[in-house]
Amino acid sequence: MGELRAVMQAQRACRRFDPDGDVPDRDIELILDAAVHAPSAENSQPWVFVVVRSAEARAALSELWTAGWTAGGAEFVRSRTDDKVYADLDSGIMRGGFASAPIIVVVGADLERVPEAYAPSSVYPAAQNFLLAAADLGYGTCLTTGLTSMYVEPVRELLALPDSVLPMAAIYLGQPERRLGPPRRRPATESTYREHYKAPW
Ligand SMILES: Cc1cc2nc3c(=O)[nH]c(=O)nc-3n(C[C@H](O)[C@H](O)[C@H](O)COP(=O)(O)O)c2cc1C
Repeated sequence: MGELRAVMQAQRACRRFDPDGDVPDRDIELILDAAVHAPSAENSQPWVFVVVRSAEARAALSELWTAGWTAGGAEFVRSRTDDKVYADLDSGIMRGGFASAPIIVVVGADLERVPEAYAPSSVYPAAQNFLLAAADLGYGTCLTTGLTSMYVEPVRELLALPDSVLPMAAIYLGQPERRLGPPRRRPATESTYREHYKAPW
């Protein structure tokens, strides 16, 4: 199998990191260079990355997560997912998983470069490249949108983002505490049709 496909097929959300594991700036730069090679509408390249290493800022983001999770986020997720997914999300927020990540990269969209309607579709491909490039270097990541969708203004204020930058994701990054098993995914053929929706693949 090609190396890229092997990385894609093994990549999954990591929510427990080695607290002593280092992520040097040179690796962050390699990962970001892969991220910015993503496509974007009209080649607008509207992404903004804020690399957060400071313990104070990470703790402040963690407090927002706890507030959102206990104020209804947990119930919302519980009502929509299976026990395994719920336990995974809960472990990140309430059992110290995200807190063990040495780095949080907040990904935003510069709305002066892209209309808001195109912002998600122009920013998330870069986020996906980020996850794959990090996996290729042996790092664990978790892409999250809960924090940035619930707490746009507090995240802006904490990171000094102007109103023109919309926070869209927080990616947790670090050395994984342990090797994760393979991702659980439905086969692609279950969601694929030939010519029209009445003809499953
Ligand atoms: C758009 C998007 C938003 C996500 N938001 C969150 C989140 O807010 N919190 C979280 O813990 N994981 C979040 N995730 C990670 C998913 O829960 C994870 O990709 C999914 O459960 C598959 O898990 P696996 O990679 O371990 O197989 C998000 C993933 C995506 C693609």
